[in-house]
Amino acid sequence: MRAVAIDGPAGAGKSTIAKRLAKDMEFIYVDTGALYRAIGLYTLRKGVDIHDTEGVIGLLPEIQVDIKYVGDEQHVFLNGEDVNGLIRTEPVSMAASAVSAVPEVRTFLLETQRGLARRYSVVMDGRDIGTVILPDAECKIFLTAKPEVRAKRRYDELVAKGVKAVFEDVLEDLKRRDWDDSHREVAPLKLADDGIEVDTSGLELEESVALVKDIVKKKLG
Ligand code: DC
Repeated sequence: MRAVAIDGPAGAGKSTIAKRLAKDMEFIYVDTGALYRAIGLYTLRKGVDIHDTEGVIGLLPEIQVDIKYVGDEQHVFLNGEDVNGLIRTEPVSMAASAVSAVPEVRTFLLETQRGLARRYSVVMDGRDIGTVILPDAECKIFLTAKPEVRAKRRYDELVAKGVKAVFEDVLEDLKRRDWDDSHREVAPLKLADDGIEVDTSGLELEESVALVKDIVKKKLG
């Protein structure tokens, strides 16, 4: 099986680009953030403080998360319930980021991710795919863009969905999540030693897609 790792901060365009790449190469696209989001959702539902490490660890034996494909779309199942429509909110983003700093949570989700990469050729997006989950991935992209650019994209997405948003709040949340994700002790977000950094700040989406496709295809031969 072949693997492409796409890591980077929130809003860098990882999922859009990884999906396009996967389709092109006929690989499976795996959004690993959805797994952390499912655990974040469960923590919120149970009323456990997202920063209460012991509380979060205590929930793990009650949780089963699965990834299934509906058509070619990934759906995440939390104890058998399809929660795909519930995990893209700001509180769940913050909860996902908080619980993802707990080493036991990362260990809990490790096998699900590696199992998928054993069964399928994958384009996997996340924070630690190239560094921890799939260290032997043939191609590791670290996709990034300036915080203001990423926040603007996120803000535009929210507005397009009819969600009321304040740009400064979106930027603030994004910067906080970036800081937390890259400063945690376990599997922090960082460029892999053999990773290739791609900054999409000045690029249109189609240009970013083309650039990443080009790099991946050269690397995979
Ligand atoms: O990719 P995303 O924004 O949906 O991820 C939500 C959070 O989950 C992110 O802030 C950090 C965490 N995460 C992680 O720690 N490791 C991953 N491989 C994917 C996500």
